[in-house]
Amino acid sequence: MWTKKDIPDQTGKIAIVTGANTGIGFETARALFEKGAHVIIASRDAEKGLDAIKRLKSAGVHGELELGILNLACLEDIKTFAEVFKKSHQKLDLLINNAGVMKPPAGKSEDGFELQFGVNFIGHFALTAHLYDLLQHTKGARVVTVSSGASRFIEQIDYDNLKLEKPYDDFREYSTSKLANLYFANELNRRAAGTITSIAAHPGVVYTELTRHIPDNELEVAFARFPTVMQPWQGALPSLYAATSPEAEGGAYYAPDGEGELSGYPAPVTIVTPAMRDGNKASELWDYAERVTCLNFP
Ligand SMILES: NC(=O)c1ccc[n+]([C@@H]2O[C@H](COP(=O)([O-])OP(=O)(O)OC[C@H]3O[C@@H](n4cnc5c(N)ncnc54)[C@H](OP(=O)(O)O)[C@@H]3O)[C@@H](O)[C@H]2O)c1
Repeated sequence: MWTKKDIPDQTGKIAIVTGANTGIGFETARALFEKGAHVIIASRDAEKGLDAIKRLKSAGVHGELELGILNLACLEDIKTFAEVFKKSHQKLDLLINNAGVMKPPAGKSEDGFELQFGVNFIGHFALTAHLYDLLQHTKGARVVTVSSGASRFIEQIDYDNLKLEKPYDDFREYSTSKLANLYFANELNRRAAGTITSIAAHPGVVYTELTRHIPDNELEVAFARFPTVMQPWQGALPSLYAATSPEAEGGAYYAPDGEGELSGYPAPVTIVTPAMRDGNKASELWDYAERVTCLNFP
């Protein structure tokens, strides 16, 4: 059973963690920082990001911490974040595409995508594109993308509904964005073979602010269905395993090893649908993302 104590020394490594001000991202950043990494706390809100840095530093000095302002709902803001980062850093060892939004009221990103698809997938696609040159020139660089068990609840990407053209179904749209995250991780690993390693992870079921848009009474019923709901530090383990374990493999998908992959310790995902394995669909999504963002890579 792999846990935080198994993380190798990260001294000298530079890591960006998106959505690092809270939840699973905060705990991912904490573990990397504790092992000596220089971690960029990417947050869309400066106050929340600085507060996270304060909380992390209060536990004692380990690596280094830096705030990065990143709004994944806006392609122009993503470009600015990457430009600022590249002005002061010559390499990037770890990019943890963690930030996410689940079941918000119907809405769109600033560029017109359904909000969950826009933030969870398009935002991270664009971020990785802008940072790709640095990743490519950093020996051993890894990109970890956080998906979800929800990636198995959707059979295909509906290209006629990525800009909220159809009546809104909050969970269908979330699941679409998470299947897209998985396709992205797999396809990046394939396209960038030999330069960077791309791995997907999902945390299981974890108490975080992700459920902020779900009314309390519905949430109680939803959580009651699960035998165990984990704490954020436990939910961060699959991402941390993917980011740091010498045994983690490019193109793999890691999740908790317990029943239903709801809780436990990192292991390769075993609950896999035909859609999740479909390399042609992953490639098709990549081409779509390149077209709509006007960002071509590798
Ligand atoms: N919790 C679970 O059970 C669970 C299960 C499966 C998958 N996941 C995945 O795990 C990842 C982390 O989620 P979490 O559970 O830790 O949720 P969380 O506590 O709500 O954290 C989500 C993070 O994403 C950030 N974020 C949201 N919209 C953003 C935007 N437009 N631009 C930049 N950052 C944005 C949030 O920033 P603010 O604080 O400013 O909103 C926050 O830092 C997500 O990808 C989620 O889909 C979670």
